[in-house]
Amino acid sequence: MKHLLSIETLDTTAARLILEQSGVFKKQRGQHPRLPLTGQTWALIFSKSSTRTRVSFEVGIRELGGEVLFLNKNDIQLGRGEPIEDTARVLGRMVHGAVIRTYAQQEVEAFAHWSAIPTVNALTDAEHPCQILTDIFTFEEKRGPIAGKVVTFVGDGACNVPASWIFAAGKLGFELRIAAPKAYQPAPEILKRAGGNIHVTDDLQAAARGADLLYTDVWVSMGMEAETAQRLKDLAGYQINDALVRLAKPDALVMHCLPAYRDKEIDAATFEAHAQTIFDQAENRLHTQKSILNWLVS
Ligand code: CP
Ligand code: NVA
Repeated sequence: MKHLLSIETLDTTAARLILEQSGVFKKQRGQHPRLPLTGQTWALIFSKSSTRTRVSFEVGIRELGGEVLFLNKNDIQLGRGEPIEDTARVLGRMVHGAVIRTYAQQEVEAFAHWSAIPTVNALTDAEHPCQILTDIFTFEEKRGPIAGKVVTFVGDGACNVPASWIFAAGKLGFELRIAAPKAYQPAPEILKRAGGNIHVTDDLQAAARGADLLYTDVWVSMGMEAETAQRLKDLAGYQINDALVRLAKPDALVMHCLPAYRDKEIDAATFEAHAQTIFDQAENRLHTQKSILNWLVS
């Protein structure tokens, strides 16, 4: 039984296979020679908002021959306190796979364990593996192998998206620099678990110098809304803008997982200047999602 619960637990061979097949699914959209989810129904169980992840999985599952049930946590008994173990054992007898967006990583892991159906982490507080696989696919589509390249993450270095980048760095052989104020730097135990060539600093100019990719994410992740005012104050300045882009390689890519908050983590002009890349990245969620689903059922 395969699951995609984190980049930390995904082996390099599987990651490379998913990345390679993403390009195949992209080319073959509308004419897939084989529909690997034919006869299957997948459940999407979401406790947080989503545009890209929800739509790319719903469309992707349908385009691979499957049916989809979208279950907002509050519409099912899970939202009224039914344990995840029971929800998992019920759904595991009715559907063929599950895609879960929630807070605690432990919830996705418990669901995978108790349901005994392929389970995907569609974002937890700990990781966002589907996003990072798409990001790497997008980088490689435009610039070739990511191995040996320099990726600079700017902003809240302690949230789910940089954590998945951290676990990807060693597995896929690129240098990762995280530029964040001290209070927003990744936990030392995550860096220790990940290994790899990773530099964490509060000097964002130094981190951007010579980078092949500048990447950012929101300053206020879902679930952190109560800290908004403090975060906007603390993270001010940790922004991708023209001055920062000029320090990177001349052909550096600028990417954002979206949603983007203009003039916070990225300024409006830089966002528009790199909109082609950013929306290619958003589109690629669909192709990579299909590749993940195909890998899970192969
Ligand atoms: N990037 C991303 O996961 O977007 P959504 O929150 O809209 O799914
Ligand atoms: N770090 C962000 C990612 C959104 C796709 C969040 O968790 O809200």
